[in-house]
Amino acid sequence: MIVTKSYEDSCQRAAELIEAAVLANPQAKLGLATGGTPLPIYRRLIEDCKAGKISFAKVRTVNLDEYCGLNGSNTQSYRWFMDHNLFNEIDIDKTNTYVPSGLGDLAANCREVDKKVRENGVPELQLLGIGNNGHIGFNEAADLLHTETHIEQLTESTIAANARFFDKSEDVPTQAITMGLSSILAAKSIVLVATGAAKAAAIRGLLCNDEVTTQNPSTFLKLHPNATVIIDAALATAAGYEN
Ligand code: GLP
Repeated sequence: MIVTKSYEDSCQRAAELIEAAVLANPQAKLGLATGGTPLPIYRRLIEDCKAGKISFAKVRTVNLDEYCGLNGSNTQSYRWFMDHNLFNEIDIDKTNTYVPSGLGDLAANCREVDKKVRENGVPELQLLGIGNNGHIGFNEAADLLHTETHIEQLTESTIAANARFFDKSEDVPTQAITMGLSSILAAKSIVLVATGAAKAAAIRGLLCNDEVTTQNPSTFLKLHPNATVIIDAALATAAGYEN
């Protein structure tokens, strides 16, 4: 648990943890995330790579999720997001990057994600953001959660939150392929970064008690032996977290 002065500092800390994993093992597998939160983290990785401080030449990556129905050349797809916000700007071999596919045989795609997570070793580090309702990846708050990669029906609140990236809210896909809880928790370490008052209730559930509930999927991180949550002081106060 790390409380920083600012979101900028949180992103710096997360970038340092990612770079430490890569320095320790240049062939590390990294689990990566999309959304607005990780963008400054990726900008730092790009800066440090361009400055020659870190190389991703042998790194492998696997992403958490993807919208169903969008192909990788669609600017709203998570493949496009990763290419343009990270992969195209660093020295990674793109053939070593994997973003789930939400097109074609979805059942086969789900099996492929779980294989990618586990083949030749699990991720050294899985980076996570968090949804307003506590979702991680696209595992929505519900009575039942899934352990393996599956197709998720997105909730109205998630569609509304993600509509800001689309021209119209009707354009937001209603389904996504996402790693399940055990695929996420398989990583050797987890780093979750959150900022903003909209995340306060989810963060309260994650940090302010010892309960695990499917109604806040992030609470399952409490079962992981090496999960680090990084929030700024403003969010800590909004969530009622006492350091
Ligand atoms: C999406 C992604 C999540 C992400 C969440 C929060 O739903 N599937 O991985 O954590 O949005 O996004 P943001 O960081 O933009 O608040």
